[in-house]
Amino acid sequence: MTTQQRIVHLFQERFGECLSGEEISRLLGVTRSAVWKQIGLLRERGYRIEAHPSRGYRLVASPDSLLPAEVRGGLETAVVGREVVFFEQTDSTNTRAQELAEQGAADGTVVIAESQSAGKGRLGRQWASPAGVNLYTSVILRPPIPPQSAPQLTFLSAVAVAWAVRDVCGLDARVKWPNDVLLHGRKVAGLLNEMSAESEKVHYVILGIGVNLNMHSGQFPAELRYPATSVAIEKGEGVHRRRFAQTLYRHLDRLYRRYLDEGVAPILREWEALFDLTGQIVEVGYLHNRIEGRVEGLDTDGALLLRLEDGTRERVLAGDVRPKG
Ligand code: BTN
Repeated sequence: MTTQQRIVHLFQERFGECLSGEEISRLLGVTRSAVWKQIGLLRERGYRIEAHPSRGYRLVASPDSLLPAEVRGGLETAVVGREVVFFEQTDSTNTRAQELAEQGAADGTVVIAESQSAGKGRLGRQWASPAGVNLYTSVILRPPIPPQSAPQLTFLSAVAVAWAVRDVCGLDARVKWPNDVLLHGRKVAGLLNEMSAESEKVHYVILGIGVNLNMHSGQFPAELRYPATSVAIEKGEGVHRRRFAQTLYRHLDRLYRRYLDEGVAPILREWEALFDLTGQIVEVGYLHNRIEGRVEGLDTDGALLLRLEDGTRERVLAGDVRPKG
């Protein structure tokens, strides 16, 4: 944690109390002028910190910040978010999470960035990641599963994001197979899982989650392949990012523990309840192939089950699904 983050952490731990500059510098092992400088910077970031001449500093209100001390405050999850690592700016939270996982980061460690310079989307695309508006996060999980089961975890992220949108914003988010979350038919969140495994065993899975929360229409790249939106655009008012992030981690935590206890079946059922295309005729495109059929649901591993016109059943493992007609 940086000195600034440690000061916030201290204020959170002793919320409502006045702390003298001397006490803060002693507790954190930094000079008083460093404390003074960081308090100034925190004020610039929107923290309201009162200064009493004889008693010291008191935190009165925090901005909608995603600093670890703020995100962890009141989170009370068993696994997800026990550790929170924050970057003001980074290339990609998935890359940072991968490095941390290689260094032994614990199951449930969460990485958050205020902005990403090279946010990774699927199929080598970029994920637009401007500062101060959205949530860019990656969660390190270490489930005891074989590598072929790892794609199942995408369904877990999709359900958690849709539920967080519902709880925090009151909007009915839906899912698109295999890994988008939509509001009114437009993409509001993207999910990118990456994993490290050997033949029998997963070392770790990174759940990369990008949610467009307060982005306005001018901030979307012009050349997007799909219609995109943000929660604020759909709701007509801003979203509190920290509340959203905490709600998301709570859902992920419960769903992950359920997955470990009961397997993927209950997660797939929750996902299917958020999916609108069951029973409909769709067209699935993958590279240069295109097939058409009626959606029958999900297979136990998350593959999309299609009944083709000739009566055969096709398991679709990847592709872009569109309703026909
Ligand atoms: C998609 O193309 O739909 C997936 C987008 C995933 C974006 C998120 S933002 C946080 C995490 N870090 C990344 O670099 N990508 C994912």
